[in-house]
Amino acid sequence: MTVSLSVLPGFEKLSRIPLYVPGKPIQEVQRELGLARIVKLASNENPWGPTEAVKARVAAVIAGSEFEGLGLYPVSNGHYLRQRIAERKGVALDRVVLGNGSSEILEMVAKAAFLDGGSAVIPKHSFAIYGIATQTAGGRVIESRASATELDVDDLLRSVADDTRLVYLGHPNNPTGIRLDRAAIERVVRSLRQDIVLVVDQAYAEYEDPAEYPDAAVYLDERPNLLVLHTFSKIHALAALRIGYGLGSKELIGYLERVRSPFNTNHLAQVAAEVAVQDLSFEAFSRMKNTEARKAFVLEVPKHRCKSSGTSGNFILLETAFPAMDLFKELLQRGVIVRPMHGYGLPHHVRVTFGKPEEMQAFWSAAGPLLDGGC
Ligand SMILES: Cc1ncc(COP(=O)(O)O)c(C=O)c1O
Repeated sequence: MTVSLSVLPGFEKLSRIPLYVPGKPIQEVQRELGLARIVKLASNENPWGPTEAVKARVAAVIAGSEFEGLGLYPVSNGHYLRQRIAERKGVALDRVVLGNGSSEILEMVAKAAFLDGGSAVIPKHSFAIYGIATQTAGGRVIESRASATELDVDDLLRSVADDTRLVYLGHPNNPTGIRLDRAAIERVVRSLRQDIVLVVDQAYAEYEDPAEYPDAAVYLDERPNLLVLHTFSKIHALAALRIGYGLGSKELIGYLERVRSPFNTNHLAQVAAEVAVQDLSFEAFSRMKNTEARKAFVLEVPKHRCKSSGTSGNFILLETAFPAMDLFKELLQRGVIVRPMHGYGLPHHVRVTFGKPEEMQAFWSAAGPLLDGGC
């Protein structure tokens, strides 16, 4: 007789944690539908990169001209990349940690914080990994109030419980595109108990106007319990290589180093990110292209039976008059991949990543008639 593995108490608990559903990959849609051209606007990637300089550096490593070979382990803690990040961000080297994508740092901090259980406060409609990382590390999720257009900071602070160890805040938030202003960020940073780690996830920060964006990193010296996350997957266009970083106090980063698996970031990712983090002009170019795409998108929305919300990041939420899953499926048949948001508590929204002008044109050609015709 075979016995289900769900009799293991840990596995039984795991079976109740939602699975992360990624955006559909292009190859999969091509295989399933046999379409020649696919436009993927589903995973908030940057269509403009990576740069030739990044590709040349990766190619040099593969060719063996600058590294002893792919048969060797990478630098375990990514010393050289951390050095570059530390220079760019104006912090000491021991205040930078690397992850296999910033998702891995979200998992690392949860693993460290929930070693003895506890809870995390997470605003409604936040990036799915916050909840998944919390629960798989043995923590409990407390969801604070938010809508598709507003994050309730009062409720976030009120929701903190005696056993709260972590608070996650997307800034800008995915999928809502909400970004807190300086006063609100400051209030969260300064009001939270010092025994709670505040994770401010700035995966999309580089898409914001640097003159206006309230970067939470300015509080790093003041708050040893603050962790600010960035990724190379978005504006730096290195999603395939899986690399991200966290900035925190020396003490907090020291704890994360204890849960980080050795060699967690690979050599190709480290060198590519070294080039990318210094390339301010590619960042500015991508930001400009994204702003243009957003402006054009927002102008197109009123011509159709839908509404948009969210003003930050490289994506936008589109609200439909009918179940948004229907729009997702119909668009898929036409070779356009967007992200349905029912799993985020938003059954009438799809999230659309800003692509190149021709990709956005393909989106509207396919989506316009569907939206107007009620799908
Ligand atoms: C808000 C947010 N944080 C973090 C990530 C994770 O990025 P990565 O693990 O690729 O660094 C994403 C990816 O979509 C995101 O939207």
